[in-house]
Amino acid sequence: MSRLIIDLEALHHNIETIDGWVRDHGATWTLVTKALSGHLDTIRALQALGVRSMADSRVDNLRAIARISPGFESWYLRPPRLTYVRSVVEVSDVSLNSELQVIDEIDRVAGALGKTHHIIIMIELGDLREGILPGSLIGFYNHVFRLDHVEVLGIGANLGCLAGIVPTVDQMMQLVLYRELLQLKFNHSLRLISAGSSALLPMLLEGRVPGPINHFRVGEAVFLGSDLIHGGTLQELRDDAFTLEAEIVEIKEKSLAVQTDGSGIATFEPVCKEEFAPGQRGFRALLAVGQLDTDVKALTPTNPNVQLAGASSDVMVVNLGDNPDGLKVGDTLKFRPAYSALVRLMVGKYMPKIVTPEVGEFKHLVSGRDPLELSPAVPDSAGPTTPGPVPRKGTVRAGRTRHADSRSPVGDAERELREDQDETT
Ligand SMILES: Cc1ncc(COP(=O)(O)O)c(C=O)c1O
Repeated sequence: MSRLIIDLEALHHNIETIDGWVRDHGATWTLVTKALSGHLDTIRALQALGVRSMADSRVDNLRAIARISPGFESWYLRPPRLTYVRSVVEVSDVSLNSELQVIDEIDRVAGALGKTHHIIIMIELGDLREGILPGSLIGFYNHVFRLDHVEVLGIGANLGCLAGIVPTVDQMMQLVLYRELLQLKFNHSLRLISAGSSALLPMLLEGRVPGPINHFRVGEAVFLGSDLIHGGTLQELRDDAFTLEAEIVEIKEKSLAVQTDGSGIATFEPVCKEEFAPGQRGFRALLAVGQLDTDVKALTPTNPNVQLAGASSDVMVVNLGDNPDGLKVGDTLKFRPAYSALVRLMVGKYMPKIVTPEVGEFKHLVSGRDPLELSPAVPDSAGPTTPGPVPRKGTVRAGRTRHADSRSPVGDAERELREDQDETT
């Protein structure tokens, strides 16, 4: 049987480890669940673990989480569509925003629903995805600050998601200084600087994230342990939370060199560029998983004797050399998915997803352990101070610089801020 196995203990380990790093920094974080596509058993496990702040870019997923984990802090991640604001306000406590027209609509809808909706103002710092330009920040905030049903929880940025640019201390210091400017100018506290995603974790571990950065939104590293900056897996994290098992439906010794006249008509991009000599033979297996189920080129076989050969919509093909493991029809091969493979596996309705241990047993196991208490970032008592999560017991900070060297970035950002002030005062 082809299926995706979700190891809850591995997820627990990664969440606990990342939580420790974030607490050491004196910050809070929100677990980005979008890769789960609302998978109920995994959400039940997150609930049992004490994850109380979750972010997703689909309203349906947030609704699914709310059914299992009532009272969790709900973040809507994607810039809200004007036509969809009502659903976003109904289902989330916080959203990330960069368009005044949308925020005005959020204010109107929140007022009609008798709610206050929290927003993070996203600032464009070079990834060229969402965000207002820093030069328009004062005017933007001046407008939003006056709205009755929108509370600005903080500012944020999305670094390293689209353009793939490695985040820098300079970019983070810009955020720190933008917040200082807003606080001084409007005499109003801004609770959060929500700087970003898994891409910041390597810098967090190196002690290079500036101290005032006090919120992270993390998905991929929780699920896959990925080190997005250096490649591979982040120290202490597990890369085995998700395993694809694919069943062999055909296995034969064949000629491996493609007989071709040079014209390519394949629907999907080739996954293997290896050239075989004319007449070279080897075992090939067909597996009951295809491009429709996942991004096949983003799968890594766990068995070193297995090499990806190609895939069409419903089958993938692997080379097995001389088949040293004696594999046969009905056996399964295991693969670790990268993020692009994982999201398609999770969203696909044809792929069975099995959590291990079974969720009832997992809940029983974790009920005997210390809860994680991955707490909400939105203040319930609305104190204007920066949140200060309890550091881990016995935490040793030796070797980590809590505040990054900010000399040159400060200079740049200050210059920009002065220009902003000049424009608006
Ligand atoms: C706005 C935003 N923040 C945070 C994340 C989390 O990114 P990652 O999965 O790399 O941790 C994403 C992506 O899913 C995102 O779109």
